[in-house]
Amino acid sequence: MRVVAIMNYKGGVGKTTLTANLGAVAARRGLRVLLLDLDPQTNLTFSFFSIDDWHDRLKDERTIRRWYDADMPGRDVSLADLVVTPERVNQALGKSTGQLDLIPSHLGLIDIDLELAARLGGTTTLDGSKRRFLDLHGCLRSALQDSRFSDYDLVLIDCAPNFGLVTKTAIVASEHILVPAKADYLSTLGLDYLVGNCAGLVEQFNDYVNHKRGSGDHGPIDPAFLGVVFTMVQIYSQQPVLAQHAYIEEVNLNSRVPVLKSTVRNSTNHFGNAGESGIPGILRASTKTNDDVVKEFDQLADEVLGALELSGDHR
Ligand SMILES: Nc1ncnc2c1ncn2[C@@H]1O[C@H](COP(=O)(O)OP(=O)(O)OP(=O)(O)O)[C@@H](O)[C@H]1O
Ligand SMILES: [Mg+2]
Repeated sequence: MRVVAIMNYKGGVGKTTLTANLGAVAARRGLRVLLLDLDPQTNLTFSFFSIDDWHDRLKDERTIRRWYDADMPGRDVSLADLVVTPERVNQALGKSTGQLDLIPSHLGLIDIDLELAARLGGTTTLDGSKRRFLDLHGCLRSALQDSRFSDYDLVLIDCAPNFGLVTKTAIVASEHILVPAKADYLSTLGLDYLVGNCAGLVEQFNDYVNHKRGSGDHGPIDPAFLGVVFTMVQIYSQQPVLAQHAYIEEVNLNSRVPVLKSTVRNSTNHFGNAGESGIPGILRASTKTNDDVVKEFDQLADEVLGALELSGDHR
């Protein structure tokens, strides 16, 4: 099982769109995929379920909010009990033996995130507070070790555009981090800062783990940046437009994060109106031949799944 956090605390850069479409393409290639919606905006969940469905079938019982909402996440409900299988997208996988499952989110997760952070205090001894730090930050990582998750090939975690405690639990749980970004000044400016913040979290976590007393079951973490994937790229004559090309090159040359060769093109036809059909746009468009956007996205899937050593026999 490979666990990948899809994160960038810049909002609106295409995290959720990438998570939904990459998950769907991986499932169509025969992989068993679990998507985890950790964003209170709940956009990933609404990419697969209608708002009515969410209200009637998911809201009270089957959302990640329930899991985080305890003195220690997971005390009241186990993560695996929250998994749902969205029908429309799975029907659209055709003959594939793959599957796409989801742990839905809840708009109220925002309050839980703040409460969780407050719970980091509350112990008086140094060992106690380190233990609490490890237990809270490591909660998702521990929960994903449940044997009921072991059949999944790939877990994609759609993070909220912030560096709150819930996002940090995703980073601790992940072996890999994928960073969607737009090729513009403000988006590229924050990338090194993001890498620095992740490194700081990893360092603190491992420092507490190494301070043996009270580290419990937690081992060291070492999430690796798969890279930045540029999204909403405007293509002209088969190339990114000049202004965007310059930002992509700049990050390529000067940033501490690797840049993926593949990009996601700007296409409202393919990536707009997420959710209405419950089937990610790339899957809907894949029936057409000679669709450049589909081809590009397939290359991206090759690159990401290849780096995760998940390509090959699954097609
Ligand atoms: N490649 C694309 N081409 C055209 N539109 C896109 C593309 N990718 C995403 N969009 C659109 O841009 C908007 C933002 O995308 P998305 O919700 O995936 O970003 P996000 O990073 O998850 O946002 P947030 O930070 O709010 O969670 C959405 O309306 C989506 O439909
Ligand atoms: Mg999002």
